[in-house]
Amino acid sequence: MADYVLAIDQGTTSSRAIVFDKAGSIISTGQLEHEQIFPQAGWVEHNPKEIWDNTREVIGQALSKANLTRHDIASVGITNQRETAVVWNKNTGEAVYNAIVWQDTRTQDIVDRLAADGGTERFKHKVGLPLATYFSGTKIVWILENVPGAREAADAGELLFGTTDSWVLWNLTGGVEGGVHATDVTNASRTLFMDLETLQWDDEILAIFGVPRSMLPEIKSSSEVYGHADEHSLLRETPIAGILGDQQAATFGQAAFATGEAKNTYGTGNFLIFNTGEEIVHSKNGLLTTVGYKLGDAPVHYALEGSIAVTGSLVQWMRDNLGIIESAADIEALANTVDDNGGAYFVPAFSGLFAPHWRADARGALVGLTRYVNKGHIARAALEAIAFQTREVIDAVNADSGVPLTELKVDGGATANNTLLQFQADILNVPVVRPVVAETTALGAAYAAGLAVGFWSDLDDLAKNWQEDKRWEPNMESGERDRLYRNWKKAVTKTLDWVD
Ligand code: G3P
Repeated sequence: MADYVLAIDQGTTSSRAIVFDKAGSIISTGQLEHEQIFPQAGWVEHNPKEIWDNTREVIGQALSKANLTRHDIASVGITNQRETAVVWNKNTGEAVYNAIVWQDTRTQDIVDRLAADGGTERFKHKVGLPLATYFSGTKIVWILENVPGAREAADAGELLFGTTDSWVLWNLTGGVEGGVHATDVTNASRTLFMDLETLQWDDEILAIFGVPRSMLPEIKSSSEVYGHADEHSLLRETPIAGILGDQQAATFGQAAFATGEAKNTYGTGNFLIFNTGEEIVHSKNGLLTTVGYKLGDAPVHYALEGSIAVTGSLVQWMRDNLGIIESAADIEALANTVDDNGGAYFVPAFSGLFAPHWRADARGALVGLTRYVNKGHIARAALEAIAFQTREVIDAVNADSGVPLTELKVDGGATANNTLLQFQADILNVPVVRPVVAETTALGAAYAAGLAVGFWSDLDDLAKNWQEDKRWEPNMESGERDRLYRNWKKAVTKTLDWVD
């Protein structure tokens, strides 16, 4: 049998292919960034063709770096930025419009229109999500209403919709020559269209949105053989056997398989996922209800999620738009030129505020400024904003579950930042723990794909691979913690009601 599994991680800023061995160790990686397209304030797009071309290329990079061929790969897993919507013509294989990215807020009018009858929570019980620009459903509506000819082509059954997992799967399995049009339950649970009980598209909601069912991919489990790579691929004939939205994949890669386990990923945004087992838990505190994973025919696992739109992208913004750091990693050194935030608080509500507030009308604010504040303080305020936002969603998880988290498993790029994670432990007052393999997103997709073909035998087999790398213990006086968090909450109130 082949010795490795390959995971494709189609993320917000880049596409990667990572080869893992049986111990869950990384053997090789290919990575390419794609262009972030900002046509107007609040709009964020990607070019689907660039994403697919990059995906093919990074597969080649990962294989060649380790001198591997398709014969060494037992199966392929796909994980992806969730909610980002691609609509393409199934006869030409071409997207009818750029991918509309999860951060994009252009659909606020569509949200308001749909919410006029029943409010933003009208579908929440069934789908686990409030009406918000974040989810793919309103992005599909925007394309159907604004791209010339799209509505007619969709009604004629010529258009397909997918999040980027489906886009990659369809292309990888043959595209116009019979590509498989499918997604998994975790991605489907981010559209606003999937009934959490039946795990199927809901015809009533589709009719309200005006989206033809023929556009939608078939909903499958997260771990099964969906199809095989086609003859044009370096991976030809290799089974594609795992799909998980990236945050669910990270949870799976962290081996948080059991009820009550959680992880927090520090990426473009931050996403905390709390496994609620086979029970659908409806949040009373602003969290989403979502699917955690489903392995083949085994029962589905649900989760509560605290999604934060802007964390790592705040650091990128300071690099690209302000130019006060050269690389994202420089934020830590700049923050460490000062001892504290100097009274400054930075609320990065660039896409409104997601969990637990769900305020589309919020916009970013930097408050508490005096002449004393310098760029070191602002860097520190940016790092602290990441940790404060995480505290808000963990408070919500604790309130919903009634059982406070006793430690936080973390992963993602920013977990290389000691200053951030120490402050995170301090502001939460629980230890923060990072595993050896911090690429848990790709690892989770590899796990799902490997389980489906017998590369790994069961969840115990996977859990053995999890190893602690580093732990940050809380070390802050409670009075100081309370003062900082109280100020943060005050700063948040300054960002609301901004959009007129
Ligand atoms: O919900 C959005 C999320 O899936 C994006 O994750 O890591 O690509 O920023 P990331």
